[in-house]
Amino acid sequence: MDINEVLKATEIMTGPFPELDKKEHNNPFSHFSQWYVHALKNGTAEPNSMVLSTITQNNTPDSRVVLLKAMDDEALYFETGRFREKVIQLTHNSSVALNFYWREQGRQVRLKGTAELTTDISHIADNLDAAVRDLNAYKTVPLEVEFYQALNEGGYARLLYKLTDGKWECNWL
Ligand SMILES: Cc1cc2nc3c(=O)[nH]c(=O)nc-3n(C[C@H](O)[C@H](O)[C@H](O)COP(=O)(O)O)c2cc1C
Repeated sequence: MDINEVLKATEIMTGPFPELDKKEHNNPFSHFSQWYVHALKNGTAEPNSMVLSTITQNNTPDSRVVLLKAMDDEALYFETGRFREKVIQLTHNSSVALNFYWREQGRQVRLKGTAELTTDISHIADNLDAAVRDLNAYKTVPLEVEFYQALNEGGYARLLYKLTDGKWECNWL
């Protein structure tokens, strides 16, 4: 087997995809919720898995998959064991990026922001194991969120939400 032949022959971006979603929401959380439910109901397995990128103490990037456990109108929440590498990294530098790829939808959501250890979880306790087990819960507050969608006719469209002076602004890229 020649892996490069296999890579060259691997199909990508095979639709059909949902029609272009032109709606601009007041905030990215509402947009995310709509896309999430659509992905869940339309054949994307485990749409709650996301790549979490952090920065090591040597200022190099690191990433891994974690599960999105809860959301409210300002943050996304994930959990991890107390003695994990990412806990050390986040103590050192709270900057993070999150990435969701929902293949069947041809959609990607990218977030940049900060993740802080939180115990303010009573409003989402039903969703979090940290409410009953010895886990760290992290509150990820995004400052930028990009919604990418592949188009059936080829190409793609991207909508970027940016938090500016406490207000979400959005622009097509
Ligand atoms: C589908 C999937 C879901 C995962 N969910 C979590 C999770 O919610 N929390 C977590 O700490 N690790 C989760 N992991 C394991 C992480 O990817 C990672 O291997 C582990 O947390 C150690 O990372 P660290 O050394 O950077 O702390 C998941 C892995 C996979 C493949």
